Amino acid sequence: MADSRSSDQAAADATASGPTSTKKQMILNAFVMNTPGHQAAGLWNHPTNRTDEYNTLSFWTDLAKLLDDAGFHAIFIADTLGAYDVYRGPANFVPTLASGAQFPVSDPMYLVPALAAATKKIVIGITASVTYEKPYALARRLSTVDHYANGRFAWNIVTSYLDSAALNHGLDEQIPHDERYARAHEYLEVLYKLWEGSFRDDAILANRETGVYIEDDAVQNIAHNGKYFRVPGPHFVAPSPQRTPFLFQAGTSSAGNDFGGKHGEAIFISAQTPELLRKTSDNIRVVAVGHGRHPDHIKVIAGVHLIIGKDDEDAARKEADFRSYTNTEGALALFGGWTGVDMSKYDDDQDFRFADDSPRIQSLISRWAATVPGTDNKPWTKRAIVEFLTVGGLGIKIVGGPQTVADQLEHWLDVGGVDGFNLAHVTNPGSFEDMIKYLLPELRRRGRFRGLDDVAPGTSAREIFLGNTEHTSRVSPARLPPDHPGSKYTWHKGQPAPKLNEIKP
Ligand SMILES: Cc1cc2nc3c(=O)[nH]c(=O)nc-3n(C[C@H](O)[C@H](O)[C@H](O)COP(=O)(O)O)c2cc1C
Repeated sequence: MADSRSSDQAAADATASGPTSTKKQMILNAFVMNTPGHQAAGLWNHPTNRTDEYNTLSFWTDLAKLLDDAGFHAIFIADTLGAYDVYRGPANFVPTLASGAQFPVSDPMYLVPALAAATKKIVIGITASVTYEKPYALARRLSTVDHYANGRFAWNIVTSYLDSAALNHGLDEQIPHDERYARAHEYLEVLYKLWEGSFRDDAILANRETGVYIEDDAVQNIAHNGKYFRVPGPHFVAPSPQRTPFLFQAGTSSAGNDFGGKHGEAIFISAQTPELLRKTSDNIRVVAVGHGRHPDHIKVIAGVHLIIGKDDEDAARKEADFRSYTNTEGALALFGGWTGVDMSKYDDDQDFRFADDSPRIQSLISRWAATVPGTDNKPWTKRAIVEFLTVGGLGIKIVGGPQTVADQLEHWLDVGGVDGFNLAHVTNPGSFEDMIKYLLPELRRRGRFRGLDDVAPGTSAREIFLGNTEHTSRVSPARLPPDHPGSKYTWHKGQPAPKLNEIKP
């Protein structure tokens, strides 16, 4: 169903402020986690950080209101299901403790209704794993929060990557990587049957005159009996505003891309150069089109760490200040969880560019070196790696004043062919306050960001991300577009019940 326009043009039109706008508008999400130390290990006690209050609702509602008022598209809450225990391991979580490096981690799902109640427009996205949660139960919880968020909700589908999660969920080891994705495809099939096909669209009558809440023939079992899952149904929650919540996904492997290109509606990627980002973003759209989807219906979002000040000097000063708080053990614990590499096995001064036994680190380093000017020939020792990691993760980093950061983001957006950014923080809310103060006015001035200015309160996540274009003609723009594979299962008003098990996934 692709049309003749390029995916760039289509994406630009979908997010542009109006028909005369030529510049592509950015989608901006705030990337956070329900833990003291998300990606910048050791910064939890920085004066501009409040993440030690992560177990209070007021911390979260204050943050969500700040982002909502500023026009962020979404607050996206990551989640994992086990400790980072590879470094100094095996099974050693102690290096995460002082810095609170993704430990402890509270469940993000419960934040959704609270944040929805505290805000007007922002999308609330959370992560839940299809590897460790059962589809019937997760479908129920996700439908419930989509109700309470009145459709302003997104789910980040992950297959998970930690051994600690596998062991704590009763497995002896992780399910092999590609099999996790094979299970995930069938999992989604079960969810579409529950969300789209178990209740007819107009099933809920709640007719006080007749005393009929739901008609006898408006709900059906799904009778799913597959390779991995057996779920008779029916779905246990009434159809929510979006039925299928707006779907985030972040797989980067070939199996992950295929999964994301089929099911995902916003795909999170990271890459070290805009040119590499372009390859990945183009590939995702090609995969989506291969699954019969319109390229407008899949948004590609790149992860970025920003340190921004009133000018370049101020930003450099902030970075130096942040570095005085960093916690090496915590940073290496995060690195161990993300990569599976235990850095305690290596000498402090070893130059990893030549570490033959660790091609994984070599490839990471050559990618990092491409983003940090002048570091191509610099020895990458453990200290250099920690320095790179401590103020935020493995991905793109930009440090500077409003002009520098806006120039860079525009470059990444245009050359990388993405639709926007997941903005990670060093401190929370400090990093977001800086973005709001320094970056957003500059992006607005350049015509690159309108946030949710034109969005009415009560608009669903799907409309916020995809818009309500000619390509989304369907029951309601809050619902899956007709080219999405989940829409094949929809039981429309006035139609006989779809035969769910005769539909080819
Ligand atoms: C921006 C972003 C956010 C992610 N958030 C999570 C998360 O919250 N939980 C999780 O288990 N994995 C998360 N991941 C990891 C992905 O789900 C996935 O495991 C990773 O990108 C590797 O892809 P692959 O499994 O296709 O190799 C995230 C990845 C990115 C790029």
